[in-house]
Amino acid sequence: MNPNEKTHKMKPMVRHVAGLLVLVCFGAGLLVAGLRPASSAAPAADADDPHYEYMDNETCGACHQEKLRDYQSSFMGQTPHDQVFRQFYAAVNARGKPDGIGFRAFKPKGASDCASCHTPDVVLDAGHELSLEEAIKRGSKGISCDYCHTIKDVKVIFDPKTGRYDTRIWKMVTRARGEVKRGPLKDAKSPFHKTKFSPIHVKSEFCAACHNNQEHLLSLDTYHVWKQAFDKGVVKQTCQQCHMPTGGKDRPIAIGGPVRPASQIHRHFFHGGHNAEMVKKAATMKAEASRRGETLVVNVDVTNSGAGHTFPGAATLRNVILVVDAVDEDGKPLAHAGSRKEVLPPLAGVGHSPRDFGGHVGAMFARPFATKSGKAPTGGFNADHVLFDTRIYPGQTAHRSFHFKAPASGHARVRVRLIYRWAFKPLVDKKGWKMDDIVIFDRKLTA
Ligand code: HEC
Ligand code: HEC
Ligand code: HEC
Ligand code: HEC
Ligand code: HEC
Repeated sequence: MNPNEKTHKMKPMVRHVAGLLVLVCFGAGLLVAGLRPASSAAPAADADDPHYEYMDNETCGACHQEKLRDYQSSFMGQTPHDQVFRQFYAAVNARGKPDGIGFRAFKPKGASDCASCHTPDVVLDAGHELSLEEAIKRGSKGISCDYCHTIKDVKVIFDPKTGRYDTRIWKMVTRARGEVKRGPLKDAKSPFHKTKFSPIHVKSEFCAACHNNQEHLLSLDTYHVWKQAFDKGVVKQTCQQCHMPTGGKDRPIAIGGPVRPASQIHRHFFHGGHNAEMVKKAATMKAEASRRGETLVVNVDVTNSGAGHTFPGAATLRNVILVVDAVDEDGKPLAHAGSRKEVLPPLAGVGHSPRDFGGHVGAMFARPFATKSGKAPTGGFNADHVLFDTRIYPGQTAHRSFHFKAPASGHARVRVRLIYRWAFKPLVDKKGWKMDDIVIFDRKLTA
C-alpha cells in the first residue's frame, strides 16, 4: 500500500469514530428514553434496507480490535486487492505485463462470476454478474465485517436430477442490511448497533455461498466434499470449528463488552493454504524402506487426517508432492527401477533449480484442470476436463510404492519429503510470484 492510500484511509476512519461517538450517545439516549415496543423492533431486525451503506472494517475494529487485526492478516480480508488474485484475473505477470495466463486472456471483456465471490457486496446490489473492473468502480469493500454480519440466510441449491449446484450468489444469499449485526451470541448487547442471534452463522452453509462453485465442472468443491464426509460422520466439525478456532484467555469481544469465556470467542484468521501451521494439521505420513532381492522398495502412506475436505483443498492450483530420494552409503543416487507412474509430472517444476521436481521419483496429489487442447493448469473458467484427481479425501489414505536398484553392498539411505505448494511451480515461475515450499514431513530411512 502506498502512503497516500493510507492517509486517504485515515480520513473516513476519523469521520467514522466521530460518528460513532454521536451514535453511542444517541444509543444511550434511546436507552434512557427506553420505551420501544418489542413488536415494532422485531420486523425491522429482519428487513433488508437497500439504501444501507456498508461500514468500513476499521469502524467495526474501533471496538472489535482483535477481530480487525486477525481479519486484516487473512487472504479473505484482502480480496479483491491481493496481487495473486488480481494478476490471475487480469492475465498479467508480477511486473504487470500481459502474459496470456489467466481469465482476461480467455475473455478480454465483459462480466464474469469472479466478482460474485471476491466482491459480493456490489454483485448482490446488482443482482447479476459484473466485471471486476466495474465492481471496483462501484466501490466494493470486498468481503467485509459488515457484509458477513448482516447476512440473514444462505441456501444451498442442489438439483439431484442433474447432480449440479446453482451457485449464483444472488440466488443463495439473503441479506438484512441495517443496524442489526448478526452473530453466534444470544445475549450480546452493544451501544453501537443492535444484535441478533443468527443460526446460519454457525453452519457450514454460511461458507458454502462462496466455497462451492459450479461452472462446467465443480471448480470449487470444498463444501460439497465436506457435506458428504460430514453426513457420513467421517468429519465431525464445521468449517468454523476448524477455521475460526476458539481459545486463549477469557476476554471481552469488544471494548465496553463483558469478559466472555474463551469458548465463545472465534479467531478471524481464516488460515488455509498459505499458512504452514494450518497445512501441517492436515496430514499424517508413514514411510518404510525394505529390500526385495535386488530391489529397494519404499512404501509411503499419506493420510488426510485433519482437513474437512480434500487435501490439498479445492482451489485448482494447489498441490502436494511426495519426493523420494535414495542413495548408497557414498551418497551416489540409486537407479530408479519402477514404472513411469512413480515419477513426478512436469507440474512439479521444470527447470534446473533444486525445487524443480518434474521427472524426479515421487507422486503428486492435486486436481489440475486442462483446456480442450490439453493445456494445464488452467482456471475453472476455461476448463474442459480434469487432468487427474489424486487429492486425498477426508479420512482416506493414499498408498504409494517406489522402486530402486538396491546397492550391491552396504545400506541404502532414503529420504521422503511431503511438500505443499499453493500453486503449481511452473505457473509461479511464469508469473514471477514468490512462493515458499511448505515442508510437511522430511523423513530419513535406511534399509
Ligand atoms: C464461487 C465463488 C468464487 C468465484 C465465482 C471465483 N472465486 Fe476465486 N476464489 C474463491 C475462493 C473461496 C478462493 C479461496 C479458497 C480456495 O483456495 O479454495 C478463491 C481463490 C482464488 C485465487 C487464489 C488466490 C490465492 O492467493 O491463492 C485466484 C487466483 C482466484 N480465486 C481467481 C478467480 C478468478 C479469476 C475468478 C473468475 C474467473 C474467480 N476466482 C471466481 C471463490 C471464488
Ligand atoms: C462502539 C463499539 C462497537 C462498534 C463500533 C461495533 N461493535 Fe459490534 N459489538 C460491540 C459490543 C459491546 C458487543 C457486545 C459484546 C458482548 O456482549 O460480549 C458487540 C457485538 C457484536 C456482535 C455479536 C452479535 C451476536 O449476537 O453474536 C457482532 C457480530 C458484531 N458486534 C459485529 C460488529 C460489526 C460488523 C461492526 C461494524 C459494522 C461492529 N460490530 C461495530 C461493540 C461495537
Ligand atoms: C467471512 C465472513 C466473516 C467476516 C468477513 C467477519 N466475520 Fe465475524 N464472524 C463470522 C462467523 C461465521 C462468526 C461465528 C463463528 C461461530 O460461532 O462458529 C463470527 C463471529 C463474530 C463475532 C461474535 C464473537 C465471536 O468471537 O464469535 C463478532 C463480534 C464478530 N464476528 C465481529 C467481526 C468483525 C469486527 C469483523 C471484521 C474485522 C468480522 N467479524 C469479519 C463471520 C465473519
Ligand atoms: C462472500 C464469499 C465468501 C464467504 C461467505 C466465505 N469465503 Fe472464504 N474466501 C473467499 C474468497 C474469495 C477467498 C480467497 C481470497 C483471496 O485469496 O483472494 C477466501 C479465502 C478463504 C480461506 C483462505 C484460503 C487460503 O488458502 O489462504 C479460508 C480458510 C476461508 N476462506 C474460509 C472460509 C470460511 C470458514 C467461511 C465461512 C465462515 C468463509 N470462508 C466464507 C470467499 C468467501
Ligand atoms: C477438520 C477440520 C477442517 C474442516 C471441518 C474444514 N477445514 Fe478447511 N482446512 C483444514 C486444514 C487442515 C487445511 C489446510 C490443508 C489443506 O489445504 O487441505 C484447510 C484448508 C482450507 C482452505 C485452503 C485450501 C485451498 O484450496 O485453498 C480453504 C479455502 C478451506 N479449508 C475452507 C473450508 C471450508 C469452506 C470448510 C467447510 C465447508 C472447511 N474448510 C472445513 C481443516 C478443515
